Amino acid sequence: SGYVTLDIGYKNTGATKSAITFLDGEKGILKYRGYSIEELAEKSTFIEVAYLLIYGELPTADQLKDFQYQLSRHTLVHEDMKKFFDGFPQRSHPMGQLSSLVCAMSAFYPDSLKSNQTAEEVNLSIVKMLAKMSTLVSWIYKKSLGHPYIYPQNKFDYVTNYLHMTFGQRTEQVEIDPVIVSAMNKLLILHADHEQNCSTSTVRIVGSSDSNIYASISAGISALWGPLHGGANQAVIEMLEKIQEDGGDTDKWIAKAKDKNDPFRLMGFGHRVYKNFDPRAKIIKKACDEILEKLGVNDEVLEIAKKLEEVALKDPYFVERKLYPNVDFYSGIIYRALGFPTDMFTVLFALGRLPGWIAQWKEMKENKEPIGRPRQIYVGETDRSYVELDKR
Ligand code: CMC
Repeated sequence: SGYVTLDIGYKNTGATKSAITFLDGEKGILKYRGYSIEELAEKSTFIEVAYLLIYGELPTADQLKDFQYQLSRHTLVHEDMKKFFDGFPQRSHPMGQLSSLVCAMSAFYPDSLKSNQTAEEVNLSIVKMLAKMSTLVSWIYKKSLGHPYIYPQNKFDYVTNYLHMTFGQRTEQVEIDPVIVSAMNKLLILHADHEQNCSTSTVRIVGSSDSNIYASISAGISALWGPLHGGANQAVIEMLEKIQEDGGDTDKWIAKAKDKNDPFRLMGFGHRVYKNFDPRAKIIKKACDEILEKLGVNDEVLEIAKKLEEVALKDPYFVERKLYPNVDFYSGIIYRALGFPTDMFTVLFALGRLPGWIAQWKEMKENKEPIGRPRQIYVGETDRSYVELDKR
């Protein structure tokens, strides 16, 4: 029809019906498949939550064991994929590497290109995507250090295996601190899904053209890279470091964020949907205090973050606009304490968000949704006649 509703930025447009994640921005509620994020972050593991998001139910002990077994069978990546790592400049951004590597998987696992895949074939693509992502993410980190890649080991669970490939060494067995395993599980759970955000909508819209799983997830990774979305976790730490170098004057930086002639925004503040608080930020702030204490890390940047939050929460500019710390405000401080370099932070967000992207992609396919294709209101020139080059 000729009737088009204009909603730039899709602020009020529902693009799908979904049974995965419930979010109430006014009340600060986030639930995966009906389970509150607070309870899952406290009691569950990342891989259990991945199962819940993708298959709709918490797994039984047998289902979990089988899922873990399937994942560990597929963690190896094709040896030729290592050639990509040789080609990337050592300091190239990990998100650019990740999105390219994930898209390239379609060349190595072409079964994903088959249209009309059976449910078993779709499931195998899902398992491969999840399993191999952890290997790629850890190898990107090893590449940045110039260290040899560590191969996955089937005896470890998903998160431990990832940490082993990241912080392990080739020649000796390195014990992964249980504090780090538990912190990583919590962080990944908190990032696992967030309904129709920018990257997830991208995954669904790319997948709606019947693109394969790797191409769809790769597009989601590209969307997540931006500092207004997942890239905010890197931007927050860079901002806090800048404030620290500048003498720690938080009032000055709050004033900059309020100044409409200054492009600076307080990174890690504000959210499209949460207008009272971000429940993930509440959990992360608490976890951040606990983890830093357990690891014996004293980070000055944490003090600056707390001071910024305190000042901003009292400032009418932020109060009127309902701007609160979001999930990215404190996550980077934990990643830093765990020893990750700043430019790896958004890759860790991607690792966490992967089960959500997969669940949403699968739901979109199962719902047999039509190709995503927004309309527009045309505001350009009408009816012009072509002018020859020598007459322009
Ligand atoms: N610092 C200063 N002013 C802000 C900020 C901020 N961080 N965020 C929003 N505003 C102001 C904005 O200038 C506008 O003011 P006015 O009404 O006077 O023009 C008002 O608040 C509304 O902002 P908006 O940009 O229209 O809101 P949005 O829903 O389009 O954007 C956002 C949401 C998250 C992109 C934005 O708040 C932002 O840029 N925040 C900083 C980046 C960030 O932390 N992103 C991570 C989001 S959470 C993780 C994720 O899910 O990706």
